Amino acid sequence: MSEHLKAVKITDSVYWVGAIDWNVRNFHGYNTSKGTTYNAFLILADKITLIDTVKKGFEEELLSRISSVIDPEKIDYIISNHAEPDHSGVMSEIIKIANPEKIFASKMGVKALKEHYSFDERLEAVKDGATLDLGGKTVTFMETRMLHWPDSMFTYLNEDKILFSQDAFGMHLASVERFDDQFPWELLESQSGSYFANILALYAPHITRLLKKVIESGMEFNLVCPDHGPLWRDQSNFSKLLALYQKWAERKVSQKAVIVYDTMWKSTEKMARFVEDGLRAGGVQVKTMSLSSCGRSEIADEMLDAAAVIVGSPTLNNNIFPTVADVMTYLKGLKFKTPYSAVFGSYGWSGESFKQTREYLESMESEIVGEVKTKYVPDGEARKACFELGLAVAEKVMNEK
Ligand code: FEO
Repeated sequence: MSEHLKAVKITDSVYWVGAIDWNVRNFHGYNTSKGTTYNAFLILADKITLIDTVKKGFEEELLSRISSVIDPEKIDYIISNHAEPDHSGVMSEIIKIANPEKIFASKMGVKALKEHYSFDERLEAVKDGATLDLGGKTVTFMETRMLHWPDSMFTYLNEDKILFSQDAFGMHLASVERFDDQFPWELLESQSGSYFANILALYAPHITRLLKKVIESGMEFNLVCPDHGPLWRDQSNFSKLLALYQKWAERKVSQKAVIVYDTMWKSTEKMARFVEDGLRAGGVQVKTMSLSSCGRSEIADEMLDAAAVIVGSPTLNNNIFPTVADVMTYLKGLKFKTPYSAVFGSYGWSGESFKQTREYLESMESEIVGEVKTKYVPDGEARKACFELGLAVAEKVMNEK
């Protein structure tokens, strides 16, 4: 039996040496129902180079995979494309073992690594566009600030035309398969979309600029290697992914509405069904999502291409319902600028939830089409008003260019 977990050979001189996390279900608030991988890469050149590391707890797996190719003590350089701890969490341990000559990161990366760990003077900042000679291979760096953190950068291996893209083009999908063409496209699309919605959506303007920069650079890619999920080697899949990134970053929406609600005594739920019926009658595709059965990440997934969000909350203890506040805080943070919205709900005596829900929607720069309040239980008039609210939102959505 082998004493090491095996690295995966990507080219004659590049290996995947990362870790598979089958069990993670909460990635800073994102429900990662399919687990993830922390991808790290080893380049065999005169200067043996490790690109990124893994999350704390997976250091043995990383070291074992490296050891299946070379003695980790032979690593000369480490390149940190991204300082978030899922990629840098074990760097201190690797530095102790490998004793590398240098650790390269962007200027902000050097700062972030110093602020996270007590790194030494071997940390060196690299500039956007700078090229580093590894001896027989060269890499070029491209700053990608806010994709996903201020420190983020890409590293491009010139001779092999491989882009190491850290979080960009990644997805949370644990698997033993390493390449995109080993999965059905539908799974790649849905998981990429979920990753974009839950991790990258708020940086949409940066992504639009970055895609322009990458396209204008004329760079060719034999492989695109993100730090999570499969590596992209099928050119047609990657072209489709680029087109999706462009669409998501430009906030191109579908004729679709998402109803998000929670309920105390089924009154707000009854209202949701009449809003839903109005939307359907108006010709709009509808997703009705109860917070007793849907998590915030699933809702973010659906928001990616939604033209409208209709939020239903009861009032509890003079406040918006806690689960609704949770999801609205999450969506506000992700900066979904959903064009249209509306508010509904049942209340007993004060009804503060309406104002609070509107404040969330206003901060998301959404046009609030209307609001229906019901005292206790929706009567015939309230049900009609909910149906008409759905119709009014549908009219806006169907006329959205
Ligand atoms: Fe995969 Fe922003 O870390």
